[in-house]
Amino acid sequence: MYSEKVMDHFQNPRNVGEIEDASGVGTVGNAKCGDIMRMYLDIDENGVIREARFKTFGCGAAVATSSMATELVKGKTVQEALQVTNRAVMEALDGLPPVKVHCSLLAEEAIHAALWDYAEKNHIVIEGLEKPKADIHEGEEEEEY
Ligand code: FES
Repeated sequence: MYSEKVMDHFQNPRNVGEIEDASGVGTVGNAKCGDIMRMYLDIDENGVIREARFKTFGCGAAVATSSMATELVKGKTVQEALQVTNRAVMEALDGLPPVKVHCSLLAEEAIHAALWDYAEKNHIVIEGLEKPKADIHEGEEEEEY
């Protein structure tokens, strides 16, 4: 059912943990399955992602996709990191079963949430980045203010 890469990243997830004083932190959840993912990014003064870590309370596919997502964004600029879509993460993992595709959306949204946090902290606008949803299952995002 799962590719070898998915199993590998699930059993040996890369970049698990937190980053102290992270440049950006994003947390997203999926109310339907109850899974939660938190992404930490350390971004240097040139807008390059030095370090990415994550904590995921979720299914195996969520762990594998967050692991792969952190690997993919490391060394990229914030602009390039926007190209790390759930599709890109899935491709890097040699695919996911159809019922698990939503898990990879959590990884994409968590990256976006962390980038959004970084942009807000630095009063910058990242072109192409939309305000992420806190819950990817919601059709409509909630206004915070
Ligand atoms: Fe919820 Fe995978 S089942 S993220």
